[in-house]
Amino acid sequence: MVINRQVLTLDEFTIQQYRNFPGATGELSSLLRDIGLAAKRVNVEVNKAGLVDILGDAGSVNVQGEEVKKLDVFANDQFTGVLKHGISCAGIASEELDDIIVFDDEVSNNSKYVCMYDPLDGSANIDVNVSIGTIFAVFRRVTKKGEPCAVQDFLQKGINMVAAGYVIYGSSTMLVYATRRGVNGFTLDPSIGEFTLSHPDIKCPDLGKIYSVNHGNFFQYSEEVRKYINVCQNKNKSNGGPYTQRYIGSMVADVHRNLIKGGIFMYPGTTDKPNGKLRLLYECNPFAFIIEVAGGKATNGKERVLDLQPTELHQRTPFFVGSKLMMEELEKCLES
Ligand code: AHG
Repeated sequence: MVINRQVLTLDEFTIQQYRNFPGATGELSSLLRDIGLAAKRVNVEVNKAGLVDILGDAGSVNVQGEEVKKLDVFANDQFTGVLKHGISCAGIASEELDDIIVFDDEVSNNSKYVCMYDPLDGSANIDVNVSIGTIFAVFRRVTKKGEPCAVQDFLQKGINMVAAGYVIYGSSTMLVYATRRGVNGFTLDPSIGEFTLSHPDIKCPDLGKIYSVNHGNFFQYSEEVRKYINVCQNKNKSNGGPYTQRYIGSMVADVHRNLIKGGIFMYPGTTDKPNGKLRLLYECNPFAFIIEVAGGKATNGKERVLDLQPTELHQRTPFFVGSKLMMEELEKCLES
């Protein structure tokens, strides 16, 4: 086997990054390594879905009132387990759990970070072999090091995020993460079991051709949102329209595609659900951060998502995210 000297693994990359920061402790690198490890374990199970008894419902309903799938439970256990046994995380919040978990042991209490995640987003797609993902956000805790973390460490504005990322279990498995320094993507090389740098310094094109929204809800959207959808559908030379509509129903897959190709993803409020469906802390905030670092924008329709002050762990928000010029076109319609 010929060794490719160009290959840079996730570990090597994150270690290189922190070495450029005088005073950095390497805790973030260690936390990202833990997330990569959990993602590899989840990936193994996702790849076996259909062969082993991992498909279908676990027979319970989560805090959101949604059916919990067996793979949701598995993924949640993996991420929680590796972070608990790692050295960088004081506690976690997850879509699958009502409350935060405070790890509360000596090492964890002395850790700098807390982590929030949706362990398996798009779980309705698991049983039908469509891409699904994990979304995560990392914050520096605001409580004192040496003590157990607390809920205020999690209820921070998105602008305070240290890192955010996602894993997409798709035609290949990728881990993409952002810090303020940039967005980088790593593809899992199954032959060596390592995430390797495949998409360095990702930038979201300012203008794309794709809009992603659940059209089934069209008549439940506000007039302003419908107006923007009409703009997307119209032939308009200045914006390159009509745009192409693509909606997978796994936000990780939809936003990943739009990040690479350019596009806009929307989950607006509806007449039935004015705050939409998506959760601010572990779904919208991480993607808002990633897309902003990549040059795009994210709003709830009124305010920048990263400026929102969370009040509850599982709160929902309308969400619009994507290429800069498309977002500006949307904002014009929302203001009108
Ligand atoms: P879930 O994890 O419960 O399947 O939710 C997926 C999320 C998000 O990933 C996706 O974009 C959206 O819900 C799809 O919702 P609709 O089916 O209402 O469009």
